[in-house]
Amino acid sequence: MIGVYDSGSGGLTVLRALRHALPQVDFVYFGDHAFAPYGEKDLGNLYDRGCHSVDFLFRQGCSLVVVACNTSAATVLRPIQQNWLAERHPDKRVLGVFVPLIEQITGVAWSQKKPRPAPRKTVAVFATARTVSCNALGEEVFRRARGVHLVPQSCPALAAAIEDDACPDVLDSLVATYVRRLQQQCRDNLDEVVLGCTHYPLVSEMFRRHLAANTVVLSQPDIVAHSLENYIRRNTTLGLVSEGKGELTCFTSGDPRRAHRAARRFLGQELSFEQAA
Ligand code: DGL
Repeated sequence: MIGVYDSGSGGLTVLRALRHALPQVDFVYFGDHAFAPYGEKDLGNLYDRGCHSVDFLFRQGCSLVVVACNTSAATVLRPIQQNWLAERHPDKRVLGVFVPLIEQITGVAWSQKKPRPAPRKTVAVFATARTVSCNALGEEVFRRARGVHLVPQSCPALAAAIEDDACPDVLDSLVATYVRRLQQQCRDNLDEVVLGCTHYPLVSEMFRRHLAANTVVLSQPDIVAHSLENYIRRNTTLGLVSEGKGELTCFTSGDPRRAHRAARRFLGQELSFEQAA
C-alpha cells in the first residue's frame, strides 16, 4: 500500500494522478486538515506534523509514503528521511514531490549534480510563502541547469482560501493578484509555469485564464505519478505493483464532512473520509 500525505485537500490532485498511473495499487490518503495551512508554519512544526502523519500512514500498513505537500518536501523531508525514518522505520520509504519536478524542469537526472548546458528558459513557480523563502527548488535547479531562470511567486492566502471553501470570485481574484505580481517581477517571456503547491491545481483553470495563452503550465501531479511509477517498477522488492486491488481509504485530522465537500467541489469526486485518531 502507498500512503499519500498532504496538509489538506490539495494532495488529492497528486493522489488522482497516482491512482490513474497505478490502478492496481492500494492507496491510503491522509489530509492534515486540522493543522492546515502549512504555508507559513515554522520548521519545527512542519517536521513534527510530517513525522506524525507519515507514522500514521505506516500504521495503516503503507510501506511507502509520498509527501505530496511541496512545503514539507521543500523544508523538512530530508531531515525526516535522514533522522526519523532511518532510526525508526529503516525498512520503509518516504518520497517527495520535488525530485521529479526538478528533473522535469532541468532535464537532468537527480543523481547528476554537475550543471549541464541545458537550454535557456524562464520558469515561474507559484508556491507557498515557506516554499519560496526556503529556496530549495531554486538551489537544486541552479546546481543542475544554470540556463534556467527560476522566478518564484508566493501566494500566501490561496491554499487557506481553498480549504476555507471560499467562493469562486474570491479565489479568482487571489489568482489574478498573484499572476499580476509575477508579471510585474518577470518581464521576460515565460516559457513554463509550475503550480508548486498541491492546492493550486484545484484552481488551475483560473491560473490558465490569467496567464498568457501560450504559457505552458506543467502538471506536477502527472510528473510525480510518472516518476513514482518508474520507481516502484524498478524497486520490485517493495511488492507494490502486484499486491493491490486499486482500493482507497481516506483519512483526515479535521472534519470528515468538510474534506468530503472539498473533494466533491474541486475534483468532482465522492470520497468518504474517516477521522484519524
Ligand atoms: N499543499 C501544500 C503545498 O503543496 C501547502 C499548502 C498549505 O497548507 O499552505 O505546499
